[in-house]
Amino acid sequence: MQVRPADPAEIDQLAQLWHDAWHHAHAHLAPPELVRLRTVASFRDRLALMLADVCVVGPAGAPLGLCALKGDELYQLFVSPKAHGTGVAAALIADAEERLAARGVQLAWLACAIGNTRAERFYEKSGWRKAGTFVMMSETSNGPFPVDQSRFEKRLAPMA
Ligand SMILES: CC(C)(COP(=O)(O)OP(=O)(O)OC[C@H]1O[C@@H](n2cnc3c(N)ncnc32)[C@H](O)[C@@H]1OP(=O)(O)O)[C@@H](O)C(=O)NCCC(=O)NCCS
Repeated sequence: MQVRPADPAEIDQLAQLWHDAWHHAHAHLAPPELVRLRTVASFRDRLALMLADVCVVGPAGAPLGLCALKGDELYQLFVSPKAHGTGVAAALIADAEERLAARGVQLAWLACAIGNTRAERFYEKSGWRKAGTFVMMSETSNGPFPVDQSRFEKRLAPMA
């Protein structure tokens, strides 16, 4: 399965994908104030700032999943509900680990909302280990919003 850099021309489709996948996984977990702030426009604004760090799977203009890095963090991983269980997520996380290792990261980490059990199972089977819980100040258009998260870590093999 091919993983490719995001194309700026597909930012609207990526924002819709991120929105739909976020609500699918978090609408029942997150506080109503946060759910209200997670609009398509809010995801588009955030994507515009990080597009250079985003890779995707799927045809140009019809992405099925996205993965973004920030420093040593696997920052965002979202797959369209129609592509769950198809290997899209596995391809994206393998590529993300390679990109992190290529930038010299030895211990990568990610945050996962407490109660997002499908994602937790996916990370565990991908070799990530839960290292604790913390309160993350999540980015919103209203400023930082506190969300309870699990921290997952994975030690990466150095690039040859
Ligand atoms: C998290 C995500 C990327 C994983 O991709 P995926 O294609 O769904 O992952 P897979 O189907 O390969 O693996 C999911 C595993 O969870 C299991 N699972 C499904 N529903 C579950 C549930 N409610 N509780 C626990 N495990 C569950 C599946 O059976 C599968 O495990 P298995 O392969 O051992 O059977 C994808 O579900 C997604 O984008 N979710 C919405 C956004 C999200 O939550 N992103 C992560 C933010 S931290």
